[in-house]
Amino acid sequence: MRINLDESITRLKAGDVVAIPTETVYGLAADARNENALKKIFATKERPASNPLIVHIASADKVTDWASEYSALAQILAKAFWPGPLTLVLPAKEHVSNILRANEPTVALRVPAHPITQQLLQQGQLAVAAPSANKYTQLSPTTPEHVEQSLGEGVAVLDGGACQVGIESTIISVADNTWQLLRHGMITPAAIEEICGIAASDETKEKPKAPGQHLLHYSPRTATYLFDDIQTLNAFAESHQHCHALLFNQAQAATCDYTALPADADKAATALYQTLHDMDASEAEHLLILSPPNTPAWLAIIDRIQRAAHRT
Ligand code: TXA
Ligand code: MG
Repeated sequence: MRINLDESITRLKAGDVVAIPTETVYGLAADARNENALKKIFATKERPASNPLIVHIASADKVTDWASEYSALAQILAKAFWPGPLTLVLPAKEHVSNILRANEPTVALRVPAHPITQQLLQQGQLAVAAPSANKYTQLSPTTPEHVEQSLGEGVAVLDGGACQVGIESTIISVADNTWQLLRHGMITPAAIEEICGIAASDETKEKPKAPGQHLLHYSPRTATYLFDDIQTLNAFAESHQHCHALLFNQAQAATCDYTALPADADKAATALYQTLHDMDASEAEHLLILSPPNTPAWLAIIDRIQRAAHRT
């Protein structure tokens, strides 16, 4: 069910959940100060209570409503990247609900860039908790249709068109003079380092760790396989029927049906989930993904497709 901005604000203030557009993916939003509303997010998504939520705020001056410490480093990063796809994990104020932060001593905050959601937060004087608006472990939604396919037609959706960034925000935890990468996104560690002059601490650049980052995540329903080279992918395609491949470099071709995403990582990210949703809805029985180059610009996409393809 599609609803307008005013109706979205009314429902959020009444303690209901509403799917809202952000520049990354659609979020399933609820008033971050209302514990009953927060519980509805977990119930609707069938998400484990151990997986904390991101609070979306209207602007950086709201950080101190939620965080007990807002270091100079965090302020520099907020100024450089907000509104935008960067989430800062900071020490939480005591009042922040344990449901929201899953008993962590910290809270995750971000100022989203989508104009309608900016208006919703400002006009409604709201802060909303919002995980991606899909059932737990399924493919993330970048259109209202994806939200309805995953959560059902009954869910209220504020239509903001297709998401422009296309994959979830970069998450970092920030202390006084250090920061750690918790989840890859299109804002790279190198871009963060360039702004603040501080490199990410320890090995998190390679292996980010955030609670609830389940290995089987962002997954199509159809069996999905990841390949490092086109020869191995083609060999698989030749020995299996009904394959559809996803490539990131137009210079290569698969011997089965395939979709080629742009060789530019930002453009590929914008189209990634839509393409996976389409492949999942097609007749294909095996989805084959050729891993893009292992370079910094592609790390967020590689992270998502590795999770999409994970099979135990
Ligand atoms: O782009 C995004 O970040 C989207 C849009 C809707 O804003 N949201 C999103 O939310 O991807 P979700 O719930 O699917 O992923 C949020 C992740 C959690 O899985 C958890 O790992 C991390 O954020 N997180 C939240 N609070 C945290 C905390 N206090 N400490 C560490 N990690 C936290
Ligand atoms: Mg998610």
